[in-house]
Amino acid sequence: MTRPPARRADVEPSKWPVGWQGAVYVQMRRLLDEYRLFFKEFRRTFHTTGAVLPSSPLLGRALARYVADRGSPDSPGGRRILEVGPGTGAVTRQIARGMTAKDRLDLVELNERFVQLLQRRFQQDPQLQPVASQATIMHLPLQDLDVAEPYDLIVSGLPLNNFSAHDVQMLLAAFQRLLRPGGTLSFFQYIAVRPLRRLWANREEKQRLGRISQVLCEWLGQHEIQRQAIWINMPPAWVHHLQFAQQKQPQHIEAHQITQTANDPAE
Ligand SMILES: C[S@@+](CC[C@H](N)C(=O)[O-])C[C@H]1O[C@@H](n2cnc3c(N)ncnc32)[C@H](O)[C@@H]1O
Repeated sequence: MTRPPARRADVEPSKWPVGWQGAVYVQMRRLLDEYRLFFKEFRRTFHTTGAVLPSSPLLGRALARYVADRGSPDSPGGRRILEVGPGTGAVTRQIARGMTAKDRLDLVELNERFVQLLQRRFQQDPQLQPVASQATIMHLPLQDLDVAEPYDLIVSGLPLNNFSAHDVQMLLAAFQRLLRPGGTLSFFQYIAVRPLRRLWANREEKQRLGRISQVLCEWLGQHEIQRQAIWINMPPAWVHHLQFAQQKQPQHIEAHQITQTANDPAE
């Protein structure tokens, strides 16, 4: 069997053009590689990839704004940061820019092919290399992540619109469980995508999207501290920042159970 030729970007740096042209060439190759893989995964695993292209640098910067905000109460031992669904690392690069030498970054990624690419990027990419010794890539779903110490910051790229409302509820509850009280969760959702999808959806799909909106409205209403619209992204997106002041009742408690608790004289 004939093997495909090895990719030049990975194995033949001596043949790259030198100087600034070389730097531009390497960046273009990297971007093209990432876009190609992302699009392939969009087609292969649409349900969990959820986007055609990686996030733009502007969206990444908005998501990483609390990492870059050194005015936040940094713990003396450095902050514990979690990125969920890093994909090809578009947001990871913006997180890396804001990290201090003491911070730790954990990355949780479901897709094995993204995990392999990220491992290479942390070895080769000039923006990720400097924080490689502070980063741990974990190949597992967020739902299975269990840590002894909560995180100070969570940045998520999960495509919530592709999941059931129950799963969205569970994922948000997992964020709350993993975040220390007062820590910040940052995530995005594409602007107007749910209303647009509802236009040609069947009844069941309309109900699913409606329930996701309900769940998100409830969580954002209670915990959102800031939001920002990012128009330079494909498609444009809302970035939401949330804080959970204290551990709250699980959000999926039924209304009648809440009433019972409220009426319980022992409370
Ligand atoms: C919309 S892409 C975002 C990628 C990247 N953060 C960006 O903004 O370009 C969603 C990512 O979440 C990952 N993912 C989906 N479900 C996940 C889960 N339950 N746990 C961890 N990662 C998940 C996908 O494999 C994919 O990499």
